[in-house]
Amino acid sequence: MKNKYFLNSYKVLYNIFSKEAYSQIELNRMLNSLEEGEDKALITKIVYGVLENNLQLEYYLSKFVKKRPKLPTYIILKIGAYACLYLNSIPSYAIVNELVELTKQESKYQEAGFVNIVLKKASQTDLELPDKEKNYLEHLNIKYSYPLWLLNKLQKEYEKDALEKLLQSKKNKLKHIRINQTIISILDFKNLLIKHNIEFSESPLKNAFYANYSKLMRVEELKNYFTAESLGSMLIVDSLDIKNGTSILDVCAAPGGKSCYMAEINNKGSVLAFDIYEHRVELINRYAFNMGVKNIITKVEDATILNKDFINKYDYVLCDAPCSGIGVVTKKPDILLFRKEDSIKSLSKLQLDILQTASNYVKVGGVLTYSTCTLLKEENIGVINEFLNKNSNFELTKLNLPKLTHINEKEAITLLPDEFNSEGYFIARMRKI
Ligand SMILES: C[S@@+](CC[C@H](N)C(=O)[O-])C[C@H]1O[C@@H](n2cnc3c(N)ncnc32)[C@H](O)[C@@H]1O
Repeated sequence: MKNKYFLNSYKVLYNIFSKEAYSQIELNRMLNSLEEGEDKALITKIVYGVLENNLQLEYYLSKFVKKRPKLPTYIILKIGAYACLYLNSIPSYAIVNELVELTKQESKYQEAGFVNIVLKKASQTDLELPDKEKNYLEHLNIKYSYPLWLLNKLQKEYEKDALEKLLQSKKNKLKHIRINQTIISILDFKNLLIKHNIEFSESPLKNAFYANYSKLMRVEELKNYFTAESLGSMLIVDSLDIKNGTSILDVCAAPGGKSCYMAEINNKGSVLAFDIYEHRVELINRYAFNMGVKNIITKVEDATILNKDFINKYDYVLCDAPCSGIGVVTKKPDILLFRKEDSIKSLSKLQLDILQTASNYVKVGGVLTYSTCTLLKEENIGVINEFLNKNSNFELTKLNLPKLTHINEKEAITLLPDEFNSEGYFIARMRKI
């Protein structure tokens, strides 16, 4: 094989499809193992391209393939279909030849001849989407590769325009970063970005930027001055309106982005951070160490089980619950591959259990914030409504947010992924009466 980018993309995709492995982790593992100069950008493009367009590629291939092939061959065909439809830089004969060679090498099923025939046909055929007027949901299903069960739910919850905007949202080329103000001022950091010629743009938040992350990571002088933290994730913390010198509990805290930000704001007070998994609690410790944050205590704790030691002790409790992640699929496209409809019900039950238990730890007059990175009402306002129905000692309060168009003055917000080039989040802030 002349070029290794198809082989390396295949290896990453095989691990993702066969083990339901996380795309970010698998891709980074591969990219870190490669020498400088190998085509990392193209491998990234192919891996994300196949994941983001998975249902569309399956639909397209179904025109040429009667029976679903075995996994190794199916992945090779998906790479080929993606390359034929979206990679103009590689001529179609090269796509076919390289992938036939890859099949001989990687697929146990002696299917190189079959791959050759299918990809030759694909390279001569355009993609035709289902008719939008006659089959609206099927059209969206194939155009955006969102599963039908999810489109059915979203269609009931969002107006047509909002739904299409949401489906169209793309990963921002620049990453949202938060500046570690304990060690550098915003102005000094901005000057360093300019000095090192790093592409950036302003964020709606004063302590953040959108910046070219891979370039940023290569500059030793900038290390530890910033952390990757999405706009939505920062808004969750900002909306708490934390007063310095208080006590904060974060009941679902790993990997620790919000805990560290809260600890920075509350540097005269403290943050206690729980997570149910020991290895994830270690991630919080590492995060805090890297950011130079010293006022975080971590604890392995199941947030659904009441711990009497903490009752009525905290000024602020953050419940950033585990969720279906539908708001962050531009960053993690594997979510759309493996998330099943029946998991939503069990997730909303878990979310309510965690919120209910967490509410016991809030002082009277204190704040309880519930947040997720999903867009489904069942996991968002549905959980809040059920909680408030059962707990008359809590009320929704206004979110304290910087002036960002419509999201001021609200008590609970859904930030859609197309807004501010961010991802989708939900935030509700409550007070214990
Ligand atoms: C959305 S993530 C939290 C992200 C985190 N707040 C941050 O900003 O980095 C949800 C976390 O909840 C944890 N989790 C899931 N079930 C839990 C439970 N019953 N008790 C405590 N933590 C739990 C997961 O391990 C995961 O780390």
